[in-house]
Amino acid sequence: MEDSKRRGRNTTGKLRIKKEEIRKTVYNLEFNSYLSIVSLNFTFFTLNYLMISIIAVIGKNRAIGKNNQLLWHIPEDMQHFKEKTMGKTVVMGDRTFLSIGKPLPGRKNVVVTLDSAFKVAPYAGRRRADGVEISHSLDDILQKAKKSPSEIFIIGGGQIYAKSLPHADKLYLTIVDDSPNDADTYFPDFSGFSREVRREEHDNGEYKFTFLELTK
Ligand SMILES: NC(=O)c1ccc[n+]([C@@H]2O[C@H](COP(=O)([O-])OP(=O)(O)OC[C@H]3O[C@@H](n4cnc5c(N)ncnc54)[C@H](OP(=O)(O)O)[C@@H]3O)[C@@H](O)[C@H]2O)c1
Repeated sequence: MEDSKRRGRNTTGKLRIKKEEIRKTVYNLEFNSYLSIVSLNFTFFTLNYLMISIIAVIGKNRAIGKNNQLLWHIPEDMQHFKEKTMGKTVVMGDRTFLSIGKPLPGRKNVVVTLDSAFKVAPYAGRRRADGVEISHSLDDILQKAKKSPSEIFIIGGGQIYAKSLPHADKLYLTIVDDSPNDADTYFPDFSGFSREVRREEHDNGEYKFTFLELTK
């Protein structure tokens, strides 16, 4: 009699422990699903938030070019540009493309031009413009970019920066401590981008410059 009572108590105890384990498992599953949803939403939001970025090296007076050339040669900035844009889509005006002279490797190059006869000339001994897409509508590119989950970079020059700025989410600016007064191309006014998300001061002995990342 005593034995069967003890067995009964043990069974009830085991059942209670089992129930408790099931309750904990369900709770953990619910909590993990909740975390997954939160992290998915966060990823979706982040990807969607950073769709159109602009990258440029500018003087304190917003000068960016002269005679279809850059105003400075700063190896650290070249490296920074490469790191930010590698693997991404880069969009540029045809004048900037001609100034660079060849597609940027490791990136999808989109050249915009209103000239329907524009052709990418052979470059670096190659006969075809491998990896270069020509578009006759910057607007089209920007609208598509807004629907795409990946970040695209507008890489210049003056005309394309000015037309893209109202659509941009983020600016990566290298501000050089210099104000060339003989420049012929300028970056547009970017005072609408007031939120500083990164600032890094540098001095390479030849130039002082600041890597700045701004959002609206
Ligand atoms: N500091 C920097 O970070 C930086 C970066 C890039 C370039 N740059 C400098 O900027 C200068 C070049 O700038 P830029 O203003 O003269 O030329 P750009 O912006 O590179 O290209 C202008 C061309 O883009 C085409 N275009 C303009 N609006 C368009 C639209 N809505 N849809 C499709 N195509 C359109 C037009 O081509 P068509 O006339 O053929 O139709 C126009 O001539 C150079 O000095 C370069 O070195 C500086």
